[in-house]
Amino acid sequence: MATVIIKRLAKSPFVLITVLVTLAAFFFTPRSPFKSFSNYTQQQRLFTAEELALYNGTDDTLPILLGILGSVFDVTKGKSHYGVGGGYHHFSGRDASRAFVSGNFTGDGLTDSLHGLSSTEVKSIVEWREFYFRSYTFVGKLVGRYYDSEGNPTKSLKGVEAKAARGTQLLEKQKKEEAKQPGCNSRWSQGEGGEVWCDDGFPRLVQRPLEIALTGKMSKRCACFTEDQLSEPGLEVYEGCDYLSKTCRV
Ligand SMILES: *[C@@H]1O[C@H](CO)[C@@H](O)[C@H](O)[C@H]1NC(C)=O
Ligand SMILES: *[C@@H]1O[C@H](CO)[C@@H](O)[C@H](O)[C@H]1NC(C)=O
Ligand SMILES: *[C@@H]1O[C@H](CO)[C@@H](O)[C@H](O)[C@H]1NC(C)=O
Repeated sequence: MATVIIKRLAKSPFVLITVLVTLAAFFFTPRSPFKSFSNYTQQQRLFTAEELALYNGTDDTLPILLGILGSVFDVTKGKSHYGVGGGYHHFSGRDASRAFVSGNFTGDGLTDSLHGLSSTEVKSIVEWREFYFRSYTFVGKLVGRYYDSEGNPTKSLKGVEAKAARGTQLLEKQKKEEAKQPGCNSRWSQGEGGEVWCDDGFPRLVQRPLEIALTGKMSKRCACFTEDQLSEPGLEVYEGCDYLSKTCRV
């Protein structure tokens, strides 16, 4: 794109000179924050929390930076979201990894501690970090919980990555387990409310396997069972639904 603009401008030598002078001023002004900044990106700068806090989007002359699991990204191109008044402004100038899944942007909710989160939640934060690697520019590391003062990953970061990997494995296992027992069809409408039904077999509520290991919570799903399976343990008939009904209101 820049070359297109320059080609177009090249038709008018005066404008071209102005542009070149402006560009030169921009790149060679010693005190320009962007100059030292691009210098930093090459070196994968290490940030302290205090340094990172300066790049919170309140100063228009500075880039906007965000930390996640100790990786620092330049999110300036997403200024409308990460700048003052944007929906993601809470993430700017800090590492608020936990808030990516908790949605808690108040006080201590804005922390990089993932203590007590489930493996699926931790997995989802690691996926957010992948998103930033894909969509924005990685500029360095935050020294603290996830990187030591040499920029090496800490035990905490390795623990987080291991937990996310465990989450991925458990989810795959759960998917395989659930594929063995077909799920119910379902629909919902404002007038009629909710309904589940089976084309083959009978709807039953069952505990999702591995759910506690994955999310720390119990959760049930609707699956279809044939008549000779109905005496298996752990199958729950929907409240108010007949034992051999193919459709149940929920
Ligand atoms: C820029 O990088 C050079 C080495 O590549 C280094 O000596 C210099 O201190 C850096 N400047 C800043 C502002 O970080
Ligand atoms: C936000 O950044 C500005 C400078 O860029 C700094 O003065 C201010 O203290 C920062 N705010 C917080 C909450 O760190
Ligand atoms: C957000 O986190 C803070 C600090 O941990 C806590 O006091 C508050 O209750 C949380 N808010 C919500 C909505 O979970």
